[in-house]
Amino acid sequence: MLTKEHWIHFNSISSTNQYLLESQLPHGTIITADTQTAGRGRYSRKWYDIPGSTFIFSIVLYYKEISHIQYLSLIVALAVIEAIYKMLKDIDLDDKQLFIKWPNDILLLRNNHIGKLAGILIETVYNYQQWKVVIGIGLNWKKTPLIEKKEIYKFAPISLFDENFDKKPIFFLDYLLEKLNEFSIEKPFDFLSYRDLIIKYHFLKNKKIKIGGEEYIIQQIDNNGYLQLQNKNNQIITINDWNEEIEIL
Ligand code: BTN
Repeated sequence: MLTKEHWIHFNSISSTNQYLLESQLPHGTIITADTQTAGRGRYSRKWYDIPGSTFIFSIVLYYKEISHIQYLSLIVALAVIEAIYKMLKDIDLDDKQLFIKWPNDILLLRNNHIGKLAGILIETVYNYQQWKVVIGIGLNWKKTPLIEKKEIYKFAPISLFDENFDKKPIFFLDYLLEKLNEFSIEKPFDFLSYRDLIIKYHFLKNKKIKIGGEEYIIQQIDNNGYLQLQNKNNQIITINDWNEEIEIL
């Protein structure tokens, strides 16, 4: 079970993911930080934070095999969403709607605005006959970072709370750990048991998108966690992870 037994908090660190990738810390070690000087996201992007106002979290897990790696980010996204809902209920601020943007992002709809609330970055290395998997989560807790012009996202960053919210980001940690445990993140699990729940939050369903110059309509997330796309000839193709961001039209 994941607990806070191996938990290190830094005031400032280069990147919590990088730290775990470089060190030999035990299974389940958690790193959190107030700020990162070289936080990173997918597609070699930078991940910006506002010191003390962003939830910055990484955990290292070791697995003998990683057949579940293709849907790990979806399960983590599900755990983050359910943990947020539980926390919001407990503090009576239950007025927000969350979505999973396949495969790694969490979107928030608040005051008629939809934006990127959180991103998940999973990095793996094979070492000493086992897989080391580092799961990083960055969540805009209160206030949103400014992003550089060259890093324009379709969804601008949005924060979970307003600036005057009095709880620190680390308040979220217990909620997150509870849900990561509930969704058995430590074991190579069966995606099918979680698929229905994930589909409930599937933001891209029926969206028109463009990949590599071609237009598609997004369909369901299949039994392997892959995304199904329908092309102009009504054929269904599936994609696994994509090496460029999906362009929503
Ligand atoms: C993305 O949206 O592309 C993923 C962002 C992931 C950011 C988190 S913050 C904690 C961990 N450390 C990093 O350097 N990145 C991840």
